[in-house]
Amino acid sequence: MADLHVSFAGIAFKNPVLTASGTFGFGREYGEYYDLSELGGVCVKGLTAAPRLGNPAPRIAETAMGMLNSVGLQNPGVDEFIRAELPFLRRYDTRVIANISGNTVSEYGEMAAKLSDAGVDIIEVNVSCPNVHAGGMQFGTDPRAVAEVTREVRRNSRVPVMIKLSPNVTDIAEIARAAEGAGADAVSLINTLLGMKIDVNTRKPVLANNTGGLSGAAVLPVAVKMVWQVRNAVSIPILGMGGIFTGEDAVEMLLAGADMVAVGTANFTYPDAPLRVRDGIAKYLDAKKIRSVTELSGAVEMH
Ligand code: SIN
Repeated sequence: MADLHVSFAGIAFKNPVLTASGTFGFGREYGEYYDLSELGGVCVKGLTAAPRLGNPAPRIAETAMGMLNSVGLQNPGVDEFIRAELPFLRRYDTRVIANISGNTVSEYGEMAAKLSDAGVDIIEVNVSCPNVHAGGMQFGTDPRAVAEVTREVRRNSRVPVMIKLSPNVTDIAEIARAAEGAGADAVSLINTLLGMKIDVNTRKPVLANNTGGLSGAAVLPVAVKMVWQVRNAVSIPILGMGGIFTGEDAVEMLLAGADMVAVGTANFTYPDAPLRVRDGIAKYLDAKKIRSVTELSGAVEMH
């Protein structure tokens, strides 16, 4: 069988399939369905310095081949994560990626220091949450702010730093270059696309926050194109995500230039979606007689 091992930002992964932050909690519920050790890694729900209750409900809405969310970074806070959730995840033989959002640049640095001391494998820096006023997209749409946050996290972290990019920008390659130039070890993309759904009877937006982030199968072509753009702009590794449901979706993302993939919204439809994706990649590699999954990365042949 084909080799699924990947080295990403200097960290060894048993396979290139992770869970996307915000779609897997801290793994407890999914751990009742299957052994989390089968995953390449778990990206946990976005953490903030203090606990957050998130936005008012409704904060999820179904769309054609996708969903909108405006969760608003509900989470127990970084200290509680380290106390109660990280030991649970450490029971499994899988990589743990902590996703962080700060209100200020220094808050990003403080969280990175705590989490890297606590022993997470990679820190994913969320500068792209579309659902909060501070601590998200307002950083990720400005290359100078992205560089500033990246430098601060890099300075405070002993583990690789991965910047999660927003698709809600004019030129995602420019933002990726800013992250790489400031010392990022990797980038992940895409976060959700800004969207809105209106109830035609009440004439009100379905989400209490009015707008939200669109994810799911509908966004795959957008994500593939952006991963390809970023691959041509930077040389650091890329974690590709956005609309991956099948092994073939993941292969597309890898061919576009990703080194690993994350499965997000598909977890809500198929609790074992990441394992289906992993097995689908292996099946593709075997059918094409490709020895290692690393041979796929960036191997798209353009017209
Ligand atoms: C949220 O909690 O609102 C989603 C986080 C994100 O999209 O970055």
